[in-house]
Amino acid sequence: MRKPLVAGNWKMNKNVQEATLLVADLIPGLESVKTVDRVLCPPFTSLMVVAGMVAGTEIALGAQNMHWENSGAFTGEASPSMIKEFCHYVIIGHSERRTYFCESDETVNKKIKGAILHDLIPIICVGETLEEREKDRTGEIISRQMKGAFQGIESIDPAKLVIAYEPVWAIGTGKASSPQDANNVIGNMVRENMKILFGEEIAQLVRVLYGGSVNGQNAGDFFKQSEIDGGLVGGASLKPSDFLQIVEAAT
Ligand code: PGA
Repeated sequence: MRKPLVAGNWKMNKNVQEATLLVADLIPGLESVKTVDRVLCPPFTSLMVVAGMVAGTEIALGAQNMHWENSGAFTGEASPSMIKEFCHYVIIGHSERRTYFCESDETVNKKIKGAILHDLIPIICVGETLEEREKDRTGEIISRQMKGAFQGIESIDPAKLVIAYEPVWAIGTGKASSPQDANNVIGNMVRENMKILFGEEIAQLVRVLYGGSVNGQNAGDFFKQSEIDGGLVGGASLKPSDFLQIVEAAT
């Protein structure tokens, strides 16, 4: 049985004071939903404060990005061991990073290796653009991203890895994929590639989330699909009532 997981990706939103208010609003509701793994991914600047607030709860933290090296002359970056001070998870290869910050399959691969080495759970994002979908290239893109992500990694512990299928055209647009379509891509493409890379057992054990315009209204329809194990939630994770509704929908 795969335990559902819902992660809130705040992106570049909320200063420390706003983060404090949001987390104070979220803690009681999040703490009451024990059957779902709950992860908050605030910006780097709020990680320390939020870590203090969730200490002693089962709420976990994630970073939104990470450098693969552990120290050195990399201005503006945060290393695996710095992130590990506060987080269990790290989002890697988010489409916004691929699009705006030149993240490639190669850097995604290095970051995944860095995360695994430092015992951080990578939430690895894959997904096609609208143009790729319209040209019927979804399978090819997912396969390329996944092969690239795991290049040179021979074995993995499925409990220490999460994949998020996030069709780029659905992120922040309000145009969610259909639950059946997301289920189909996850089952027939994401898990199929995991099977090719690591075998059937791992493909069935690894958790795969859906992300892209998930909200309080549509979350239940996504999460009842057999292949979908929860969500990576952007915009709606900034609204306590919506986020709590989404987490409840994953139970
Ligand atoms: P969204 O973002 O929920 O605002 O579409 C999802 C994500 O970027 O992970």
